[in-house]
Amino acid sequence: MSISDNTCTFLPIKKLDGECQVAGDKSISHRAIIFGSISKGITEISNFLPGLDCLSTIDCFRKMGVSIEVNNETNVKIYGVSLNGLKEPSDILNVGNSGTTIRLLTGLLSGTSFYSVMTGDASIRKRPMNRVTNPLTQMGAKIYGRDNNNLAPVTILGSKLNPISYQSPVASAQIKSSILLAGLWADGKTTVIEPAKSRDHTERMFLSFGGELINGDKSTTITGDIPKLVGQKIEIPGDVSSAAFLMVAASIVPNSEICIKNVGINPTRSGIIDALIAMGANIQLSNQRYFGQEPVADIIVKYSQLQGTVIEGDIIPRLIDEIPVLLIAAAVANGKTIIKDAKELRVKETDRIQVMYEQLMSLGVISTPKDDGIEIDGNQIFDGGIIDTNHDHRIGMAFAVVACIAKAKIKILNYDAVKVSFPNFTEVMTLLGAKKE
Ligand code: S3P
Repeated sequence: MSISDNTCTFLPIKKLDGECQVAGDKSISHRAIIFGSISKGITEISNFLPGLDCLSTIDCFRKMGVSIEVNNETNVKIYGVSLNGLKEPSDILNVGNSGTTIRLLTGLLSGTSFYSVMTGDASIRKRPMNRVTNPLTQMGAKIYGRDNNNLAPVTILGSKLNPISYQSPVASAQIKSSILLAGLWADGKTTVIEPAKSRDHTERMFLSFGGELINGDKSTTITGDIPKLVGQKIEIPGDVSSAAFLMVAASIVPNSEICIKNVGINPTRSGIIDALIAMGANIQLSNQRYFGQEPVADIIVKYSQLQGTVIEGDIIPRLIDEIPVLLIAAAVANGKTIIKDAKELRVKETDRIQVMYEQLMSLGVISTPKDDGIEIDGNQIFDGGIIDTNHDHRIGMAFAVVACIAKAKIKILNYDAVKVSFPNFTEVMTLLGAKKE
């Protein structure tokens, strides 16, 4: 990356090959910091993701009096203070670009006995918060924000919370986890019911720290009243959402064969593997095992001609973050791909339906945005050109993948967004054979 102008230019290549690892899972890294902080005793985390989002979570807990040491970027030691040991922060908590941090901490902080304020970057200050502030208010939380408590900055006056049974209109782990973390303070059972199961890392991490809950098919129940959580040793799996860029790249660059080691394959996250296999990808999982409560595997991907598909319904929350790169696969597959039931894409770090449509178009690739998804014909050819991440990490990485098969080089503007979730993305891609200018 050129530091001076914050761009990176990738060139077309002939193949990708070799073995690699991706950075630690973003969702699991957040939760390891949260539960390590509210447990008693020491938690040691290895393969922590040193992405900006997870560093924001560390920063928030440090401001609440938790001592957290980071060694060699990926080893983290937390001196847990227990739930009641969190202290009133003396300044505003800044979550940066991290929706997970602000949503989950809004729930956790609602039950404290102190005052706190959270804000974030320009993207965070546009993203809806009422999806968590509404149910939390029903539990007795006192949360105030702009636009009728919908937008950050949010102010939280910690208060006594009551348990709730909440039917969420959206399958969202951020909503579910926010309510479950609030439920830790409430005396009794808090249940969240979802239209489809969202990622269950909060549930698995809570169990790892000695908590008890029922992790059902589409409902989760936690029993609150200050559980006794104990510090743990946690090894974070590689992030399947980061691996997705490599899986798509190896699937669409002819003659490629790669192996991505130690990737999390939690079924609530592995929709991308299922979707690519349904499209005819040559993907094999080997060496399947567990890191704590989380299943992992090595993923072997070989080039193969993909076919268009329809992606809709319950699989959507299992691959929601992978849709930008899946669209790249769809653009070169045989036949049409239809993605629907994915309105949530409009409230991610950017409106990913609109941004993908615009950036694809700038390289001569046509797609049709819909209210809740996008349709794209296959067998399209990418021109070289310039694209803009719009400060969205996953848009940047999706177009670095495009460059491997484009007619000419692609310059990516605002490239440092990739540091949010996959800080060594460029190194891993070049290790496998990608070329930067
Ligand atoms: C996340 C949940 C997802 C996902 C985000 C991380 C999490 O959001 O898009 O990148 O760690 O809980 P929603 O659950 O709101 O869909």
